[in-house]
Amino acid sequence: MTTWEELERSCLSCTKCPISKDRTNVVIGDGNKNAKLMFIGEAPGEEEDKQGKPFVGRAGKLLDLALDALELSRENDFYICNILKCRPPNNRVPTEYEAQNCLPFLRAQVKLVQPRIIVCLGATAMKYILGRNLKITQDRGKWFQRGEFHIMATYHPAALLRDPSKREDFYRDLKSVKEKLKEMIQF
Ligand code: URA
Repeated sequence: MTTWEELERSCLSCTKCPISKDRTNVVIGDGNKNAKLMFIGEAPGEEEDKQGKPFVGRAGKLLDLALDALELSRENDFYICNILKCRPPNNRVPTEYEAQNCLPFLRAQVKLVQPRIIVCLGATAMKYILGRNLKITQDRGKWFQRGEFHIMATYHPAALLRDPSKREDFYRDLKSVKEKLKEMIQF
Protein backbone atom coordinates (compact mmCIF):
# COMPACT_ATOMS: atom_id res chain seq x y z
CA MET A 1 0.00 0.00 0.00
CA THR A 2 2.30 2.74 -1.18
CA THR A 3 -0.24 4.96 -2.92
CA TRP A 4 -3.57 6.41 -1.74
CA GLU A 5 -5.36 4.50 -4.50
CA GLU A 6 -3.88 1.22 -3.29
CA LEU A 7 -4.65 1.99 0.34
CA GLU A 8 -8.24 2.97 -0.46
CA ARG A 9 -8.77 -0.13 -2.60
CA SER A 10 -7.40 -2.38 0.17
CA CYS A 11 -9.53 -0.74 2.87
CA LEU A 12 -12.71 -0.84 0.82
CA SER A 13 -12.31 -4.52 -0.02
CA CYS A 14 -11.20 -5.64 3.46
CA THR A 15 -13.35 -8.36 5.07
CA LYS A 16 -10.84 -9.69 7.64
CA CYS A 17 -13.03 -8.92 10.67
CA PRO A 18 -16.65 -9.99 11.13
CA ILE A 19 -17.58 -6.32 11.83
CA SER A 20 -16.89 -5.58 8.15
CA LYS A 21 -20.21 -7.29 7.31
CA ASP A 22 -22.22 -4.66 9.19
CA ARG A 23 -20.53 -1.53 7.92
CA THR A 24 -22.26 1.07 5.77
CA ASN A 25 -18.93 2.69 4.93
CA VAL A 26 -15.26 2.11 5.51
CA VAL A 27 -14.04 5.27 7.27
CA ILE A 28 -10.52 5.81 6.02
CA GLY A 29 -9.65 9.39 6.96
CA ASP A 30 -10.26 13.05 6.24
CA GLY A 31 -8.32 16.29 5.97
CA ASN A 32 -5.11 17.49 4.41
CA LYS A 33 -3.14 14.48 3.16
CA ASN A 34 0.08 16.53 3.32
CA ALA A 35 -0.43 17.91 6.82
CA LYS A 36 2.33 17.95 9.42
CA LEU A 37 -0.27 17.08 12.06
CA MET A 38 -2.28 13.87 12.33
CA PHE A 39 -5.04 13.02 14.82
CA ILE A 40 -5.83 9.37 15.49
CA GLY A 41 -9.02 8.28 17.25
CA GLU A 42 -10.46 4.89 18.11
CA ALA A 43 -13.06 3.77 15.57
CA PRO A 44 -15.99 5.18 13.59
CA GLY A 45 -19.29 5.65 15.43
CA GLU A 46 -22.78 5.57 14.01
CA GLU A 47 -22.62 8.92 12.23
CA GLU A 48 -19.13 8.26 10.86
CA ASP A 49 -20.28 4.88 9.52
CA LYS A 50 -23.23 6.64 7.81
CA GLN A 51 -21.20 9.47 6.28
CA GLY A 52 -17.91 7.63 5.63
CA LYS A 53 -15.87 10.33 7.42
CA PRO A 54 -14.15 10.31 10.82
CA PHE A 55 -15.29 12.50 13.73
CA VAL A 56 -18.47 13.92 12.22
CA GLY A 57 -20.78 13.00 15.15
CA ARG A 58 -21.16 14.77 18.51
CA ALA A 59 -17.60 14.08 19.65
CA GLY A 60 -16.23 15.20 16.30
CA LYS A 61 -18.17 18.46 16.41
CA LEU A 62 -16.74 19.20 19.84
CA LEU A 63 -13.23 18.47 18.58
CA ASP A 64 -13.74 20.69 15.52
CA LEU A 65 -14.97 23.54 17.75
CA ALA A 66 -11.86 23.32 19.94
CA LEU A 67 -9.59 23.16 16.89
CA ASP A 68 -11.43 26.02 15.16
CA ALA A 69 -10.71 28.18 18.19
CA LEU A 70 -7.02 27.46 17.62
CA GLU A 71 -7.42 28.18 13.90
CA LEU A 72 -6.65 24.61 12.93
CA SER A 73 -8.78 23.16 10.13
CA ARG A 74 -9.10 19.77 8.48
CA GLU A 75 -8.82 21.41 5.13
CA ASN A 76 -5.46 23.05 5.78
CA ASP A 77 -3.79 21.90 8.94
CA PHE A 78 -4.40 18.28 9.84
CA TYR A 79 -5.35 14.81 8.74
CA ILE A 80 -7.65 12.72 10.96
CA CYS A 81 -8.32 9.00 11.06
CA ASN A 82 -8.84 6.10 13.46
CA ILE A 83 -7.23 2.87 14.63
CA LEU A 84 -10.19 0.96 13.12
CA LYS A 85 -11.74 1.78 9.78
CA CYS A 86 -15.00 -0.11 10.47
CA ARG A 87 -17.54 0.61 13.21
CA PRO A 88 -17.62 -1.88 16.08
CA PRO A 89 -21.16 -2.81 17.18
CA ASN A 90 -22.61 -0.36 19.73
CA ASN A 91 -19.30 1.53 19.60
CA ARG A 92 -17.58 -1.02 21.82
CA VAL A 93 -13.82 -0.82 22.23
CA PRO A 94 -11.96 -2.52 19.33
CA THR A 95 -10.74 -6.03 20.07
CA GLU A 96 -7.05 -6.84 19.82
CA TYR A 97 -7.81 -8.96 16.73
CA GLU A 98 -9.59 -6.06 15.00
CA ALA A 99 -6.86 -3.58 15.89
CA GLN A 100 -4.08 -5.86 14.63
CA ASN A 101 -5.96 -6.48 11.38
CA CYS A 102 -6.47 -2.77 10.82
CA LEU A 103 -3.11 -1.33 11.93
CA PRO A 104 -1.41 -1.98 8.56
CA PHE A 105 -3.81 0.57 7.03
CA LEU A 106 -2.86 3.16 9.63
CA ARG A 107 0.86 2.47 9.11
CA ALA A 108 0.35 3.01 5.37
CA GLN A 109 -1.52 6.26 6.06
CA VAL A 110 1.29 7.54 8.28
CA LYS A 111 3.83 6.74 5.53
CA LEU A 112 1.74 8.57 2.93
CA VAL A 113 0.90 11.65 5.01
CA GLN A 114 4.34 11.86 6.68
CA PRO A 115 3.20 13.92 9.67
CA ARG A 116 5.73 15.27 12.17
CA ILE A 117 3.17 15.42 14.99
CA ILE A 118 0.73 12.68 15.95
CA VAL A 119 -2.04 13.23 18.51
CA CYS A 120 -3.72 10.16 19.98
CA LEU A 121 -7.33 10.86 20.92
CA GLY A 122 -8.11 8.59 23.85
CA ALA A 123 -6.81 5.43 25.44
CA THR A 124 -7.20 3.09 22.46
CA ALA A 125 -5.11 5.22 20.12
CA MET A 126 -2.61 5.80 22.93
CA LYS A 127 -2.27 2.05 23.54
CA TYR A 128 -1.53 1.17 19.92
CA ILE A 129 0.62 4.20 19.09
CA LEU A 130 2.53 4.88 22.31
CA GLY A 131 2.33 1.56 24.15
CA ARG A 132 0.39 -0.34 26.74
CA ASN A 133 2.28 0.84 29.81
CA LEU A 134 0.89 4.39 29.66
CA LYS A 135 -2.31 5.77 31.15
CA ILE A 136 -4.36 8.58 29.69
CA THR A 137 -5.03 10.06 33.15
CA GLN A 138 -1.31 10.18 33.97
CA ASP A 139 0.38 10.61 30.63
CA ARG A 140 -1.92 12.82 28.57
CA GLY A 141 -0.42 16.13 27.51
CA LYS A 142 3.15 14.79 27.56
CA TRP A 143 5.32 14.82 24.45
CA PHE A 144 7.07 11.63 23.39
CA GLN A 145 9.58 11.47 20.57
CA ARG A 146 9.61 8.25 18.55
CA GLY A 147 11.92 8.43 15.55
CA GLU A 148 10.92 11.48 13.55
CA PHE A 149 7.51 11.75 15.23
CA HIS A 150 6.48 13.97 18.12
CA ILE A 151 3.55 12.20 19.75
CA MET A 152 1.06 13.27 22.40
CA ALA A 153 -2.09 11.65 23.75
CA THR A 154 -5.05 13.56 25.09
CA TYR A 155 -8.62 12.73 26.09
CA HIS A 156 -10.98 11.38 23.50
CA PRO A 157 -13.51 14.15 22.79
CA ALA A 158 -16.34 11.73 23.72
CA ALA A 159 -14.88 11.68 27.26
CA LEU A 160 -15.46 15.45 27.45
CA LEU A 161 -19.12 14.95 26.59
CA ARG A 162 -19.40 12.56 29.54
CA ASP A 163 -17.25 14.62 31.90
CA PRO A 164 -17.01 18.36 31.08
CA SER A 165 -14.43 18.87 33.86
CA LYS A 166 -11.88 17.34 31.48
CA ARG A 167 -12.33 20.15 28.96
CA GLU A 168 -9.77 22.49 30.45
CA ASP A 169 -6.97 19.91 30.27
CA PHE A 170 -8.05 18.95 26.77
CA TYR A 171 -7.85 22.57 25.53
CA ARG A 172 -4.48 22.98 27.22
CA ASP A 173 -3.20 19.89 25.39
CA LEU A 174 -4.47 21.17 22.06
CA LYS A 175 -2.78 24.53 22.66
CA SER A 176 0.48 22.67 23.20
CA VAL A 177 -0.13 20.85 19.89
CA LYS A 178 -0.55 24.18 18.12
CA GLU A 179 2.70 25.47 19.67
CA LYS A 180 4.55 22.32 18.56
CA LEU A 181 3.14 22.70 15.06
CA LYS A 182 4.37 26.30 14.90
CA GLU A 183 7.86 25.11 15.92
CA MET A 184 7.81 22.36 13.27
CA ILE A 185 6.71 24.70 10.50
CA GLN A 186 9.52 27.17 11.28
CA PHE A 187 12.14 24.50 10.59
N1 URA B 1 -14.84 8.34 17.86
C1 URA B 1 -13.68 7.98 17.27
O1 URA B 1 -12.76 7.51 17.93
N2 URA B 1 -13.57 8.16 15.97
C2 URA B 1 -14.51 8.69 15.21
O2 URA B 1 -14.30 8.83 14.01
C3 URA B 1 -15.70 9.07 15.84
C4 URA B 1 -15.86 8.89 17.17
